[in-house]
Amino acid sequence: MRGKRRSALYVPGTNERALAKIGSLPTDMIILDLEDSIAPSRKAEARDRILDFGRDHVDRQREFILRLNAADTPFWRQDLAILAGCSLRAVLLPKIRTAEDAGRQLREIESVVPGCGVWFMMETPESVFNALSIAAVRRHHENVQGFVVGTNDLAKDAEIQPDRNRTYLVSWLMQIVLAAKAFELDVIDGVYNDIADAEGFRLEALQGRAMGMTGKSLIHPNQIVPTNDIYSPSRDEIDRARRIVDAFAGEDGDDRGVLTLDGKMVERLHLVQAEKVLARAGEL
Ligand code: COA
Ligand code: MG
Repeated sequence: MRGKRRSALYVPGTNERALAKIGSLPTDMIILDLEDSIAPSRKAEARDRILDFGRDHVDRQREFILRLNAADTPFWRQDLAILAGCSLRAVLLPKIRTAEDAGRQLREIESVVPGCGVWFMMETPESVFNALSIAAVRRHHENVQGFVVGTNDLAKDAEIQPDRNRTYLVSWLMQIVLAAKAFELDVIDGVYNDIADAEGFRLEALQGRAMGMTGKSLIHPNQIVPTNDIYSPSRDEIDRARRIVDAFAGEDGDDRGVLTLDGKMVERLHLVQAEKVLARAGEL
């Protein structure tokens, strides 16, 4: 079974020091990047470094994901080739626009590395409108894991001015979240660029969690611990979940559709939610 997916740290493929640091960082997932953090002149170097890294360092405890360049660039085929030569078994596909795009790339990846996990970047205006059909690709490909949101690209293409509340992004983010949920996919929120602004980061991570995101993508080690905290159930949530599970487990609980706890109605759907909280906390 897959592990937690609270924090997903991008690591540029050319950054030797950052690659060397991964082992000591408590991030749940690592996204090894060949795309936007790598200058075109250094793509080959990044591939070589990741290939070396992927031979030796990939541990089984955490998820490593390789972000390829977009399929319409001259880099895609060479990027794909390194998958066959190392132990990385998941990719992140950028600049997806339609379900056809997604399906075509996925089939090609399958032919190179059968069973490879696949994530789609949701970062083009078209992808927001097509979010549901892109998520539906999961119906025929169970190796589709979920979405990673590319808020920088979305803001750039739509020419919106970002603010702390993500005012003009929220409705698109919610559309992406809902599409993911419809097909039981995970959805990882976009990055926060201002590395020095810890409070702004915290507020955005809280907002993402409240929106139903599974976790957050990160650019710097300082962002990992706050993310893991925010995306873990709080003590209060765990206690309440435990009480709901206990209430339904009590005498005649099996026959009850609804009950009252602390003056609030609790139905069996809340039991399902409570079980999820306990599972996330490792207490089920
Ligand atoms: N992953 C792993 N380690 C990282 C890291 C990352 N993404 N970012 C920084 N570090 C390491 C640094 O190597 C340094 O460790 P060291 O002293 O052992 O070398 C330590 O964390 C502190 O880093 P700091 O000096 O604060 O930052 P920096 O100037 O080295 O790097 C960035 C700043 C923005 C260049 C870097 O964080 C980065 O490249 N982030 C990812 C960018 C990316 O992938 N973007 C694409 C997706 S949006
Ligand atoms: Mg992008």
